[in-house]
Amino acid sequence: MNLQRRSFLALGSVSALALGAPAVAQTGANTARASSPNGVLTMEMGTDNDGRPTYAVSRLGQKVVNTSWMGFLLTDVPMLERNFAMTAGQPVLVDDTWEQPWGERRFVRNHYNEWRVSYVEKSGLQRRLDVLVRLYDDGVAFRYEFPDQPALKTVRIASELTQFNLAEDGEAWWIPAWEWNREEYLYNRTPISAVGSAQTPITVRGKSGTHVSIHEAALIDYAGMNLRRSEGTGFRAQLTPGLTNAAVVRQAPFHTPWRTLQISDSAAGLAESSLILNLNEPNRLGDVSWVKPMKYVGIWWEMHLELKSWNAGSKHGATTENAIKHIDFAAKHGFGGVLIEGWNLGWDGNWFASGEEFDFTRPYPDFDLERIAAYARDKGVQLISHHETGGNAYRYEQQLEAAMSQMERLGQHAVKTGYVADAGGARVAGPDGRMVFAFHESQPLAQHHMKVIETAARHKVAVNAHEPFKDTGLRRTYPNMITREGARGMEFSAWGQPGNPPEHEANLVFTRLLAGPMDYTPGIFGMDTRSPGGIQTTWAKQLALYVVIYSPLQMAADLLVHYENNPGPFQFIKDVPVDWAETRVLNGEIGDFVTIARKDRNSDVWCLGSLTDEHPRSLDVALGFLDAGRRYRAEIYRDGPDANYTTNRTDIVIEQREVTSADQLTLNLAPGGGQAIRFVPIGRRR
Ligand code: NOJ
Ligand code: CA
Repeated sequence: MNLQRRSFLALGSVSALALGAPAVAQTGANTARASSPNGVLTMEMGTDNDGRPTYAVSRLGQKVVNTSWMGFLLTDVPMLERNFAMTAGQPVLVDDTWEQPWGERRFVRNHYNEWRVSYVEKSGLQRRLDVLVRLYDDGVAFRYEFPDQPALKTVRIASELTQFNLAEDGEAWWIPAWEWNREEYLYNRTPISAVGSAQTPITVRGKSGTHVSIHEAALIDYAGMNLRRSEGTGFRAQLTPGLTNAAVVRQAPFHTPWRTLQISDSAAGLAESSLILNLNEPNRLGDVSWVKPMKYVGIWWEMHLELKSWNAGSKHGATTENAIKHIDFAAKHGFGGVLIEGWNLGWDGNWFASGEEFDFTRPYPDFDLERIAAYARDKGVQLISHHETGGNAYRYEQQLEAAMSQMERLGQHAVKTGYVADAGGARVAGPDGRMVFAFHESQPLAQHHMKVIETAARHKVAVNAHEPFKDTGLRRTYPNMITREGARGMEFSAWGQPGNPPEHEANLVFTRLLAGPMDYTPGIFGMDTRSPGGIQTTWAKQLALYVVIYSPLQMAADLLVHYENNPGPFQFIKDVPVDWAETRVLNGEIGDFVTIARKDRNSDVWCLGSLTDEHPRSLDVALGFLDAGRRYRAEIYRDGPDANYTTNRTDIVIEQREVTSADQLTLNLAPGGGQAIRFVPIGRRR
């Protein structure tokens, strides 16, 4: 199929009907209002008595964000903070449907009112700052635009003053900002008024039941944003520090990333929103048919269990023999790729201390790269190289071009990158070209990741980043930025103290995953690991993760022997698609449970995944998503009667029954359990 044509095909039309949208209402000398296309969300822009730019948000007449200030502290010129006069333009309605080259749904409707509000200082430097607002029915977003102007050429941002003054208390799900292990923390569930410094996305549920997720979209050449609670339920943006006292240095004209608020009356509503993707620019890469969603196995879990090593020696995992074994397994069972870690020089010694020794083109002597790559090509399997940098982006950039062109020459179209270094310990080139330390989500790292994405794209390589820059939906613009880690993955259940508790995935769906796909690496059947408690799920839940956690690269992470020994449950991993035409979130509560149904992009098969935290649950699910009038064979993988994440993780029942869209199923989930179902159409469509 011609993916270039598909990805540019715009089905709807952009209608710039200034009058079709609810007109902007001047609500007073200093405020103006505009609403989303169906009037669900309203944003009020204004200035306060000191001329500070302000915004507020309501949903169906109820305040979600109280009046909040906007502005900037600059390092070398007076702050952009007060003394502003505001002019609000007319909202413009856009209704466009675009097609993803791959994704959780094929068509995405982009339906919003766009609204430009300009602020000019009333005296002094008379600088101008625009705020571009987009109002969707399921969220609002705004970004600052710095126009070209004589009094503001080089913009050095010390601090962004954007506030998010949430209107009501309630519960918040969040991970701490600025801590050494970056995004790899368990989620806190606290009152909103007890959050400290949090990363985004942060998700809250107000007492009235309104769900809000605060995040950002299209983060390019800017510092990542964290939030610090200032008082009560009020938060302020905290930009990640840069290399000097400026977090961001840019030349005007430029604009910031979008500040986003996904807003819904249900958790499921948040998880169905495409707001983050929609706010990104369309595909810039053209034909991306070389970006292939796929399932993969790898020389990987055995290192995390310490059965093998990344470094050279008697336990070295990445040997020619082991690689061939994995390629044969992938070819036999229909997996698209094989990940190989520890194949390249640089792992000996204390690699995560500096990353200085890593070589991204030269293999260890017991790994015959040329032969293995040729073998993989013959078998139609992608060899996925691993580029662990130890956070040393500086060294990686020096070898980037050579590494990517070698991959292209060897027919490799996917790389897994890694940036293992404590917060503040990543390395980049400083202003004089010498190496300096930086935060993983600082502006220099944003620039680095863009360089990697663009270089990889030139060589037709898709990137799966671990210890990454946060996901802000760039996959729309650069579809080779295919997936990433950026949360506590399954690896923590291999060695974590503690591992991932049963509520973890039900947290992820409504927090981190609102930002985009995650390489979570599910599919573990060997439940005893180095982590106390081992894998804290049932087998059925491991299978459900393939549907619940969206990732276009989806690993079957366990040792091959565990798959060979358990063909029953393994069949679901073999059968489950990775690229979807549709996604429906059927139910869910943050941190408690969730059920998601997805339709295969390449057939009429539907899949369903449902999972729970430590509590058993019985969930009724109507099958109305199936085609009406069609019969389906439901291949059900459910928790057995004794299944429990502590005492009996492997109790699974695999059965089949015939269903139609008129049926309802009751999903009985064990403590720490789940259920996976594949619906295969039988007979003809009636
Ligand atoms: C952490 C990554 O998440 C993991 O997948 C990888 O194996 C190790 N770093 C070593 O690079
Ligand atoms: Ca990691």
